[in-house]
Amino acid sequence: MSSESLRDEIMRLKAERRAVILAHSYQRPEIQDIADFVGDSLALARQAQAAECDVIVFCGVHFMAETACILNPTRTVLLPDMEAACSLEASCPADELKKFLDENRDKNFYVVAYVNCSIGVKALADVIVTSGNSQRIIETAPADRPILFVPDKNLGAWTAAKTGREMTLWDGACHVHRRFTAEQVQRAREAHPQAQVVCHPECGPDVRALADHVCSTEKMIGYCRESACGSFIIVTETGILHRLRALVPGKEFIPVAEGPCCAECEYMKLNTLEKLRDCLRDMAPVVKIDEELRRRAERPLLRMLELSK
Ligand code: 13P
Ligand code: SF4
Repeated sequence: MSSESLRDEIMRLKAERRAVILAHSYQRPEIQDIADFVGDSLALARQAQAAECDVIVFCGVHFMAETACILNPTRTVLLPDMEAACSLEASCPADELKKFLDENRDKNFYVVAYVNCSIGVKALADVIVTSGNSQRIIETAPADRPILFVPDKNLGAWTAAKTGREMTLWDGACHVHRRFTAEQVQRAREAHPQAQVVCHPECGPDVRALADHVCSTEKMIGYCRESACGSFIIVTETGILHRLRALVPGKEFIPVAEGPCCAECEYMKLNTLEKLRDCLRDMAPVVKIDEELRRRAERPLLRMLELSK
């Protein structure tokens, strides 16, 4: 089937099912192009909460689709490929976090969980953050309680430095962002001395230290648009380049590294147009969550959405 007729079929099924297609900025370009909305984790959570439809097709990874289910439990949430996991989520199993909190009950931790985590971890958290709002949320954390930040030690360390708030960091990281090296950034700078370096806070401290600007995927668009500079070395998953080039025309975007070996999240890339068509046709796979867990996980998510208005 040609890609044009595949797209036509998706549009027909989407209307028939009364579905909305949400896509993360790391999705394949052809998925971003057919989506009703493309954004970062925060924007997608807001869209999922507000979605007026029968079906949400979430083109992203599992924790993102699960978040849509938590925030909008009366809709059917489809994920084109159920294998779309996240290494950061995997670095903090809920039972390990529960054990740690039980063993450290005397510390009375205020638990801040990056949205890249399972529903079980969210249910143990006081508040959720995304890379787009972590500073703002941490600034509202109770001053008399120590903070435990899970699962990403890199976003945690960056937020701690930005806010001056001390935190205990869970030892988790994203396998894609931890692969970027200071040497890659230095080499890209030598090859493109006119360009600014923009990196995601999930990158390691040596990479962040070399960046002109550190921010979430969504904020990269605004930063590059507003900047007087005409070219940028981008240090994150390369899916964002499609959006940057479409939304900030006339400027140059250079990936610090490219390809499945170095700068692609294989989980994000599991979703394809064919699987998107199949899931709308078959109404499967459906993301299912436990209602009791959902209610507990909803609280810190709603707190985040309220605090980041
Ligand atoms: P954003 O919050 O910037 O969308 O990032 C999500 C993510 O998975 C980054 O690896
Ligand atoms: Fe998870 Fe990393 Fe993929 Fe983002 S890029 S979804 S943090 S594995």
